[in-house]
Amino acid sequence: MSKYHWWRDAVIYQVYVRSFLDSTGDGVGDLAGVRAGLPYLKKLGVDGIWLSPFYPSPQHDHGYDVADYRDVDPLFGDLAEFDLLVAAARRLGIKVLLDIVPNHCSSGHPWFEEALTAEPGSAARARFHFADGRGADGEEPPNNWHSMFGGPAWSRVTEADGRPGQWYLHMFAPEQPDWNWRNPEIAAEFDRTLRFWLDRGIDGFRIDVAAGLFKHPELPDSDDPEADARTRDSVNPLAWNQPEVHRVWREWRAICEEYTARDGRERLLVGEVSVPTAREHALYVRSDELHQAFFFDLLSAPWEADAFRKVISEAMQDIAGTGSTVTWVLNNHDQVRTVTRYGEPATEGSRLGAARARAAALLMLALPGAAYIYQGEELGLPEVVDLPDDVLTDPIFHRTGSRARIRDGCRVPLPWSGQASPFGFTSGAESAKPWLPQPEYFAEYATDRARADTRSFWHLYRDGLQLRATLPQLGEGSLHWLDSVPGVLAFVRGDGLVCAVNFGTAPTPAPVSGTPLLSSGPCPAGVLPGSTAAWWINDR
Ligand code: GLC
Repeated sequence: MSKYHWWRDAVIYQVYVRSFLDSTGDGVGDLAGVRAGLPYLKKLGVDGIWLSPFYPSPQHDHGYDVADYRDVDPLFGDLAEFDLLVAAARRLGIKVLLDIVPNHCSSGHPWFEEALTAEPGSAARARFHFADGRGADGEEPPNNWHSMFGGPAWSRVTEADGRPGQWYLHMFAPEQPDWNWRNPEIAAEFDRTLRFWLDRGIDGFRIDVAAGLFKHPELPDSDDPEADARTRDSVNPLAWNQPEVHRVWREWRAICEEYTARDGRERLLVGEVSVPTAREHALYVRSDELHQAFFFDLLSAPWEADAFRKVISEAMQDIAGTGSTVTWVLNNHDQVRTVTRYGEPATEGSRLGAARARAAALLMLALPGAAYIYQGEELGLPEVVDLPDDVLTDPIFHRTGSRARIRDGCRVPLPWSGQASPFGFTSGAESAKPWLPQPEYFAEYATDRARADTRSFWHLYRDGLQLRATLPQLGEGSLHWLDSVPGVLAFVRGDGLVCAVNFGTAPTPAPVSGTPLLSSGPCPAGVLPGSTAAWWINDR
């Protein structure tokens, strides 16, 4: 495959802007901070960055509630700063992807505000899903769906005459009304938004909730209305993964191709696609649709050799087998960080979680396809599990009262340097407070310490990325499983790069006799210690 398709094996770093680096001293990261951090990312060796939403927004879901799709929220900077960031990234050879949110907007978007004051049945309401309620006075929601964040997926509005009126659909928070994609105005509006940013020189988009957009046209009741909220996954077959959505991805792909035809720079669309099977997932990455879709099954697999093997085999067969690329991911801003997730049972402490997270990283970087790294993953940051209730911002916590799987713990601002918070995160006064409190132990993970210590996560990621960039066996290409003992996965890439992972805790014989090129922990010749992964060149 020609290197022209740079994205097929790219490694992209997700920048959660509000927690990356704060240049203004208000405790919230911003675009100038991202620009200042680019040399760090260049050293790490990533191909590109994905920026979480920075558009004007009331921030009910940290920017995934967009009030204006074509501007920058003053919290994060302005368009001039955005342009400087894109130019600086281009100079360093780092691609820039933006996060676009087409399933829903903010209740502060002017079109939703217009819809609220407009009549039932008006053109302004037809841009959203407004419907009359059920029951004698319309006091029951139009159907029984639940929101992903808990509670009903419908909220009732007050009409101009002051009486309770229609309901509108929101698959997430009430402040995130869903667009009605059966209305052609919506597609036209997003077409303008894509072009607005492409004209400013970006390299592509991460698409939020890319299996959403269309709902079953009749909005019927669901047999299991709480399934989405219960599993925190988009499983309601009436609300997600409707066939019409593929038409949108074909149109967006055509827009990207149009820009590529002009300047030869290939643009990338990567979708957040949560669908039940790898086979359905593959439909989203057909050659005229999205370039990539995050394959979350790796992220959700338990730390067991058989589970990982099954996920990888299915991806290779059902996705790579169709000629598209698999997009691997272990962490993002919605998930408990690997170090903590793999640290179970907690009694064995975070050392085990850290060893497994390092091994998982080497495994992911050895797989054919593209990979995404979430900021702080390269530092081995653990989830911050003990944030007090009064600092939590996740709408999931506020709507359900549950702390289970809430998302603030993976969004705590990055430690850059020093012994005490704000650890160089904010360039303001010493007293400047990061928007979420950083625990004292973040000192151990600061980027300056990580870069000075060759045993750090940072060095493992950087060395892995350097080898990926230079070894022809890595990135795109074939994968063949090798026979291995239970609890160990071993495979060979291309003409002889072997990767093996020991999921157990006891050492086993290594599949290759020599010293590894790279390993996630100490790895003497001929042995693969527990909770360790290694790469060898097998030239026998
Ligand atoms: C996606 C985002 C998540 C957000 C949700 C609603 O899942 O990753 O952070 O809350 O969409 O936009």
